[in-house]
Parts: sequence; C-alpha cells; structure tokens
Amino acid sequence: MRLADYIDKTAELFAKADLHFGHGTDNAVDEAVYLVYSGLGIDFAEDFHHSRRVLSTPELHILDEFVRRRIESREPVAYIVGEAWFCGLPFFTDERALIPRSPIAELIENRFSPLLASPPTSILDMCTGGGCIGIACALQFPEAKVDLVDISEASLELARKNSDRHGTSDRVRALQSNLFSEIDRRYDLIVANPPYVSKQEMQSLPPEYLHEPRHGLECEDEGLALSLQILRQAEFYLTAEGILVMEVGNSDEALQKRLSKLPMLWLEFEFGGHGVMAITSQELVKFREALN
Ligand SMILES: C[S@@+](CC[C@H](N)C(=O)[O-])C[C@H]1O[C@@H](n2cnc3c(N)ncnc32)[C@H](O)[C@@H]1O
Repeated sequence: MRLADYIDKTAELFAKADLHFGHGTDNAVDEAVYLVYSGLGIDFAEDFHHSRRVLSTPELHILDEFVRRRIESREPVAYIVGEAWFCGLPFFTDERALIPRSPIAELIENRFSPLLASPPTSILDMCTGGGCIGIACALQFPEAKVDLVDISEASLELARKNSDRHGTSDRVRALQSNLFSEIDRRYDLIVANPPYVSKQEMQSLPPEYLHEPRHGLECEDEGLALSLQILRQAEFYLTAEGILVMEVGNSDEALQKRLSKLPMLWLEFEFGGHGVMAITSQELVKFREALN
C-alpha cells in the first residue's frame, strides 16, 4: 500500500472513531501523519501527497497495531511512538510524564521577548515533567545554566534522558523537589507549568488524558493550590530583575478572581493557547500582600 493511501485510510478511521486530538495535533489527518511518520521514523520533510513510498508488510503490521491502540485504548500517539515534538525538537515521551504541548513553546522560540531585559544566565523549569521546557530554554540560551525540578523521580529520569539526547547535560541539572523545598539559589527566569486541572474539570477530560500521570494534571483548590504556592514563594528564588512565567490553563479565570489585585500579565499567543501569565520579581515583592 502507498504511504498516502495508508494515511488517508487511517485519517478516515480516526475521524469515524471520534477520537480527541489534543496532544500535538487538532485533526484526524495530522494525527495520522504523526502516527505513521513517527512510527516508521520517516522524515517529516517528506510530503506524503507526493511520496512514492510503498509500505512493506512488516511496516503495515507495526502501523496496524499502532492504529488499533490509538482507537481501541485511546492511547495518545506520543505514548505509542515514544516521541513528541516541542519547540521543533523531538523529546522521548512515555507514561512517566505528561506529553509536551505547552504554549510556552512559542515564548521560548521568541526568547521571551519582550519580557526579559537581557538573556537569562540561570533558569528554573519548575514542574519539568520530561524536561521539554527547560531543555528547550537551555538550547535557546546557550550561556544559561538550567535546573529542572519535579517531585517525581520517574519524570526526572525521562528528563535526564532528554537532556542527554539534546547534549545539554553539562548545563542542565534535574532535581527532585517539592516545589522550592530543595532549592537554595535565585534564577533570572522561572518557567512553571504545574498541575492545574480542577477535580471538576478532571471528570470531563477525554479518555486520552487518563493515560497521562494524574499527578501531572490534577490539583486541589480549583486547580490553583500549586500555582498559588509558586506565586507566593517565587520572590525568594528570583534575582532582582527576574521574571516568573507560569501556565495555569483553564484555571486562569479562577486565578484572576482569587488574586484580583496582583498585576499579572496574561500573554497572547500567535499559534494558539491561553492561560499563561508573567510577573516580575519586583512586582511579586511589591504586591506581596495581594497574595494572601
Ligand atoms: C503539567 S505537568 C508539566 C510537565 C512539563 N513541564 C510540560 O510542560 O509538559 C506538571 C508536572 O508537575 C509535577 N509536580 C506535581 N506536583 C509537584 C510538586 N509539588 N513539586 C514539583 N513538581 C510537581 C508533576 O510530576 C508533573 O511532571
């Protein structure tokens, strides 16, 4: 069977199966391309419409099994093929960590312009999971030292593997810590993507998300428990000119309501996404009272 025919057929099956597309693609055709190309290690530069590639019988067996898993157990493609893309970079991905998809990628690619006065020399990726945010930052800012923090040692093992893959291990450390509990230094930039899905929202998530570690998604107190702690503690871990960038997703309205006096800057994204705020170290100090 030709590559193009297999992708068409798979996209049709995906569309009929009423899958949810929320892990790197937003439609059945892109999802089919992702599964087939990553599943067989085909270069994404190869345009399937014009490709003369014909799939062999062993290749078809592999792909048929992948398609079956995607449809029957609703596993996300990233876990099936073991890889996800973030900031144009491939990351090893498995059930030890969430699948990279944060809109913070766009900020990293724009080097956090115009938020940062100068390139950061120290960066903390708080709640790093498989390390995608911190490692992509390390590659954008080659002078910076980067700490990846997570409470889960299993996530950190994956993060270390990803750091090795991208050749950043001489500048990137992976540390197990409950938020800032094991941190004893300050950073020019803290980027955080903590769990922020409220208990109520958890109940309405499509089955694809239930393959992800629950401790990476669910959070108490309307999804705000960890974000609030990060906001309250960040001033002690930022340099004088430092900034905190944090994603809270759909909990953005609840956070704004809760901290109506805090001057959070809500960022806009050209390529989609919402619920990411920024605040300077100085503002966190000045508006400390607003955080209580
Ligand atoms: C939403 S995931 C973010 C993963 C990754 N940064 C990304 O953007 O794809 C949240 C991560 O926070 C970690 N986490 C949960 N509670 C934590 C805590 N108290 N301290 C540090 N990390 C925590 C989880 O293990 C999970 O890896």
